[in-house]
Amino acid sequence: MRIYIEDNYDAMSVRAAGIIAAEVTVNPACVLGLATGTTPIGIYEQLIRKYEQGELDFSEVTTVNLDEYCGLDGNSPHSYRYFMNHTLFDHINIDKDNTFVPDGMTKDMEETCENYDALIESMGGTDLQLLGLGQNGHIGFNEPGEFIAETHPVELSENTIKANARLFDDISQVPTMAVTMGLKSIMSARTVLLVVNGKQKSMALKKALFGPITPKVPASILQLHPNLIVVADKEALPV
Ligand code: F6R
Repeated sequence: MRIYIEDNYDAMSVRAAGIIAAEVTVNPACVLGLATGTTPIGIYEQLIRKYEQGELDFSEVTTVNLDEYCGLDGNSPHSYRYFMNHTLFDHINIDKDNTFVPDGMTKDMEETCENYDALIESMGGTDLQLLGLGQNGHIGFNEPGEFIAETHPVELSENTIKANARLFDDISQVPTMAVTMGLKSIMSARTVLLVVNGKQKSMALKKALFGPITPKVPASILQLHPNLIVVADKEALPV
């Protein structure tokens, strides 16, 4: 495990974007596992900046996202597909046909999940998986409770619904179900890049990195990953 502790959110974003940019530079046809949420916004801004300055070329890159809310289609401003398009994909030269987000509108959840895992496997897994961290220790929407290997539907915990309500007009609008990549695809990434900021995440991060490996803290499984890079700000990981 390599840990970078940065002064603040911006420095954390620059560091993490540098790691992703290095992957894209040395491996232009790489497969990136991507996350949504507040944490990666600064990273995506940095990647866009590098692209605009001619430093990065995404034309051969493929992406697979971690998760999607159930019941929201890609045109809904709260869907993760919409977030990815607007926060990153619309601003770089990626081929949108090579960007994948689980289908939250599916009528056949079982098939959708199986196909998502098969898709990731057919790509040979991800080269780099970017992860944020939930205040309850979740990664993707792998919520505390049990380690689940495959892509699966999930009932969001109260904690996650409350944490995500800030992005909706009203907590009652937050979907209660989502579909998430499972831990097998996350753990088989060649590199896992966990990015965490803010003191509201410090307890979860401490437990994830230094506590027992337990499904009560899904991110604790990352301790077993052979190439885990953690980029945190000082509030999330005080020294
Ligand atoms: C998002 C995801 C989640 C978030 C986590 C942190 O695709 O998979 O695990 O990374 O909930 O969210 P933020 O960054 O909004 O604090």
